[in-house]
Amino acid sequence: MTKSSTPDAPTPKLNEHSLSDVRKTATLIDNLTGIRFELPLIDGTLGPKVIDIRKLYTDSGYFTYDPAFMSTASCDSKITFIDGDQGILLHRGYPIDELAEKSDFLEVAYLLLHGELPKASEKQTFERNITYHTMLHEQVHEFFRGFRRDSHPMAVLCGAVGALSSFYHDSLDIHDPQQREIASHRLIAKMPTLAAMAYKYSVGQPFVYPRNDLSYSSNFLNMMFSVPAEKYKINPVLAKAMDRILILHADHEQNASTSTVRMAGSSGANPFACIAAGIASLWGPAHGGANEAVILMLKEIGHKNNIPEFIKMVKDKNAGVKLMGFGHRVYKNYDPRATVMRRSCHEVLDELGIKNEPLLEMAMELERIALEDEYFIERKLYPNVDFYSGIILRAMGIPTSMFTVIFAIARTVGWISQWKEMIEEPGQKISRPRQLYSGAPKRKYVPLHKR
Ligand code: ACO
Repeated sequence: MTKSSTPDAPTPKLNEHSLSDVRKTATLIDNLTGIRFELPLIDGTLGPKVIDIRKLYTDSGYFTYDPAFMSTASCDSKITFIDGDQGILLHRGYPIDELAEKSDFLEVAYLLLHGELPKASEKQTFERNITYHTMLHEQVHEFFRGFRRDSHPMAVLCGAVGALSSFYHDSLDIHDPQQREIASHRLIAKMPTLAAMAYKYSVGQPFVYPRNDLSYSSNFLNMMFSVPAEKYKINPVLAKAMDRILILHADHEQNASTSTVRMAGSSGANPFACIAAGIASLWGPAHGGANEAVILMLKEIGHKNNIPEFIKMVKDKNAGVKLMGFGHRVYKNYDPRATVMRRSCHEVLDELGIKNEPLLEMAMELERIALEDEYFIERKLYPNVDFYSGIILRAMGIPTSMFTVIFAIARTVGWISQWKEMIEEPGQKISRPRQLYSGAPKRKYVPLHKR
């Protein structure tokens, strides 16, 4: 923070910036004391500039107040860019719709982790590394048997992923790049195995071991749906649709679960524990639980004719009802992932010969009405990625309780990439937000008999 400023000079990039070299600043004037504070402005590659307030407290004695991070950039990241007003989502610079159309999930995973699309040999090595780690320590099976049969699979996933740190002691040293890499591969590789086990356990079927001759998505479908008594034929259209769902959910910059992973990891916690923290955060209906909530909502509406009444309830603040799958903290335009998901949804239903699917019909009618309604237009509420993903998953035979689990499989790649980026940052520190305290001032303890 400084008092000098020269308005026409270019804005410095983060890390290029030194406090004696401030060329662009924002001025904060304390009207109580008249003191002015010059705060450096920093440019990203895309998106809004940020005001660097790292020294604000030391220099001025003030904190900033931003509950729920409405205007706060919590880190400097090179992984994902979102322009919520334009409806743009880029991973390492590549638009999400191009990746969903031309790439595959493991290639996107490589891109997110390493920053560039892999060359053919790099892709082959990465795929081999991931498939090499798909099996779980056999004792994990015993661990699973401790869960109640009727547990929600997200509860099982939270516990089982956290428990991986008790099975893989040789990849817990976060200061060793090789161990970090092995832990990353293990998490990406084992997540579908754990997810499918959570499902099999809930329906009382035997666990199915991974098959390394199959693609990532085909292997997951096989572990979900095959049984020892019969041959299971993988439908390539459904495997492709699953792969696309995974690509569309792979990363989304500093959302609640990713910020949770970064926050947990900032203390030096091991990656398995950090990803378990991310899974816990993802579970909530305002985040990853929304695709499950969309299906429950559509079932509750029950029929197209009931939609106007439902919309009326959504608009009534006292009713406390939200149109699930609509709205987003960042997108104030159509979520670009929802556009791809909508197309994919029609492809899957066509492939499966599902005509006049009532939930899809209701979803389309809801979307049509909401997009024309002043309430939604004014608040810039558009369908998000979860509005259609539930319908595709349901058509594939995936039970509703597994929807968020599949989101977690995909997002593991984003979480681990963001965790890696944070750990590799020079001078990385523990995250420690501050607060505006509005509780009781200091007071004397009152003994029980006098209260
Ligand atoms: N239905 C009805 N009204 C809504 C909705 C909705 N889905 N979403 C927002 N609003 C209204 C709010 O009531 C508020 O109205 P007001 O200004 O009259 O008070 C206004 O729109 C702004 O909403 P906020 O709650 O301030 O928006 P915020 O950014 O905090 O919330 C969120 C974003 C949590 C995603 C919200 O839109 C929501 O709950 N949507 C439904 C759940 C959902 O689909 N979540 C998935 C998100 S995407 C993902 O995680 C993959």
